[in-house]
Amino acid sequence: MSIIVRDLVKRYGDKTIIDGISFEIAQGELVSLLGPSGCGKTTTLRCIAGLETPEAGFIAIDDMVVFDSQAGIAVEPYHRDIGMVFQSYAIWPHLTVFENVAFPLRIRRRPNTEVETRVTKALAMVGLSAFRDRSSQQLSGGQQQRVAVARAIVHAPAVLLFDEPLSNLDAKLRDQTRAEIRKLQRELNVATVYVTHDQAEALSLSDRILVMRDGVIRQQGTPEAVYGTPLDAFVADVVGPANFLPVTVVGAASGGVEATLAGGEHVLAAFGPTTPGPANAMIRPDRLVLGAVPGANQLHGRIRQRLYLGGHFEYLVAVGSASLRVLSSAMAAEGDSVTLSFTAADCIILATDTQETSSWA
Ligand SMILES: Nc1ncnc2c1ncn2[C@@H]1O[C@H](COP(=O)(O)OP(=O)(O)O)[C@@H](O)[C@H]1O
Ligand SMILES: [Mg+2]
Repeated sequence: MSIIVRDLVKRYGDKTIIDGISFEIAQGELVSLLGPSGCGKTTTLRCIAGLETPEAGFIAIDDMVVFDSQAGIAVEPYHRDIGMVFQSYAIWPHLTVFENVAFPLRIRRRPNTEVETRVTKALAMVGLSAFRDRSSQQLSGGQQQRVAVARAIVHAPAVLLFDEPLSNLDAKLRDQTRAEIRKLQRELNVATVYVTHDQAEALSLSDRILVMRDGVIRQQGTPEAVYGTPLDAFVADVVGPANFLPVTVVGAASGGVEATLAGGEHVLAAFGPTTPGPANAMIRPDRLVLGAVPGANQLHGRIRQRLYLGGHFEYLVAVGSASLRVLSSAMAAEGDSVTLSFTAADCIILATDTQETSSWA
């Protein structure tokens, strides 16, 4: 394993920020830490980098123990085999592009010939060869981001750490850079921890996603697994747009779980806890169909708002006391009474009490 984190605990004062998290990342694997602002993503990354000292736990990087609270080991950041890209890029304005990228080699006192070779190669990999002698002050945001990436990879680290590296770029550049980061990471074949609060970034880039909440890992799995079978409403909401409908679970039924809406209508879901009682039915906005589909679950509501998104619409539909988002290319007007359909396969029952996942259909 390239990265091993075990029972990591970090506190600031009497506030526990990281509450005993554990995970492992294999060589070549890209794993995202995904969660809302303040859940402890950056703190976790900084603990791995050695920029924060945890209260407890164990961290190994490329088979080297870099932190072990019980053995009293805490290796300096510069002796950890990592490259890191900060949210702010942390480019030194008074240095040239070349010297910014050379920095990790200079502090490791590598000979000039090696610095020349490695910096040249790193700049070529991020497409900045022509900029090597520029002052860093002359760079655009996107170019600064590339300098930060080149600096992270220049010493061929075993592990790469990214902290929201795209958040300061505009939308178009963000999409392009996202694809480039994935390509580069594949080429380098290094274990990578990628911190983000952006669901689309995490889903598109990751081999595996760790969904964090209040300093713990709530769920981990492939993008398909956390998106398709979230453990609870929090995870469902963090990994993608989600609609929640309050329901009462009746019990197991052929084909899944049966539940009823407040108005008494029946809903069949593919899976979820079968314990009778209050729960939430979760349906993604792109899985709700405007119109009556025979044999599917059907809801009746009224369109409150329509937004044109180019090629399709986003509708806000009032169904009972709930408000559902629907993505559809079908035409309807605000105020229209509509039927919404969805199949059981596109509906998951989530327990309202997230601990209650005992019996699943
Ligand atoms: N140096 C610090 N001193 C005190 N509290 C901090 C410090 N750094 C972070 N925190 C707190 O720790 C929590 C997690 O922060 P952070 O890891 O930056 O979250 P994220 O990156 O997920 O947005 C936040 O509540 C933040 O206010
Ligand atoms: Mg952060």
